[in-house]
Amino acid sequence: MGLLDGHRALVTGGGSGIGRATCRRMAEEGARVAVVDIDGDRATTVADEIDGVAYVADVTDYDALAGAADAAAETLGGLSLLFNNAGTSSMHRVHEWPLEEWNRIVAINFTGVFHGFRACVPYLLASGDGRIVSTASISGTRPAAGEAPYSASKAAVIALTANAALEYGPTIRVNAISPGMIRTALTEPLFGFFPELEERFVQDSPVGRVGEPEDVADVVVFLCSDLARFVTGQNIVIDGGLTLHGSGVDGILNRVEALLRGPVE
Ligand SMILES: NC(=O)c1ccc[n+]([C@@H]2O[C@H](COP(=O)([O-])OP(=O)(O)OC[C@H]3O[C@@H](n4cnc5c(N)ncnc54)[C@H](O)[C@@H]3O)[C@@H](O)[C@H]2O)c1
Repeated sequence: MGLLDGHRALVTGGGSGIGRATCRRMAEEGARVAVVDIDGDRATTVADEIDGVAYVADVTDYDALAGAADAAAETLGGLSLLFNNAGTSSMHRVHEWPLEEWNRIVAINFTGVFHGFRACVPYLLASGDGRIVSTASISGTRPAAGEAPYSASKAAVIALTANAALEYGPTIRVNAISPGMIRTALTEPLFGFFPELEERFVQDSPVGRVGEPEDVADVVVFLCSDLARFVTGQNIVIDGGLTLHGSGVDGILNRVEALLRGPVE
């Protein structure tokens, strides 16, 4: 018995990283999976591994995504799961963002998620028991300097999730996930340019390491499964505790303990 037996899923950005790991876990748990990606070779490679189906679509192109959803529903016999996961980022100061680049980031990370809802919700409603997960980010609530359209679009995904959960319950449960630092093609260049970052994440995360795509995939499978039957409208943070820091007195405990111990003789 798999956690997702009988389900039929559509995963955007399924060709790499978090999306690829989730396609694999969903298939292991018994779902049939439509892998959708702007990169057709990647989508096909993943689909071939898991006996799924692959579609090339840019999530910013509504007609292309709706075409993929229609074809996937036709082939799989409907859709009951949607993982809105395609996303991208780059960095500039707020007033220096090239207009085209700003619009591209928002179109992929936010409007692309809306397109996923628009194309797939009718199928999920028809299934009588649908589940949607969308990929936000810890940047949606705790942004870093330089990623304004990324963090704003991820915050918008969290808000859209709450809206949709209210609109589609009880037939569809709708949740978001907010990964922290996960090692994928999106973040690998950072570790290449700044190798010391790895140690920083090891130090600053209570879990003591950088995340792997499978760490996120398992939570998506949980949210899509009956185990999460009373969970909807939530944003689940998957960051190994990285964003727990916040009181401004990190490291003070060791110093207080040292003071209380007094000087070493
Ligand atoms: N890696 C992290 O640390 C991290 C942290 C928080 C959130 N996220 C989010 O997780 C999601 C997946 O990212 P990842 O880290 O696995 O990156 P990734 O680059 O490994 O995978 C992203 C996939 O999305 C596809 N894609 C990009 N633009 C697309 C478009 N317009 N239409 C369709 N497909 C498109 C890419 O071809 C790629 O296969 C993104 O939404 C990202 O913002 C990642």
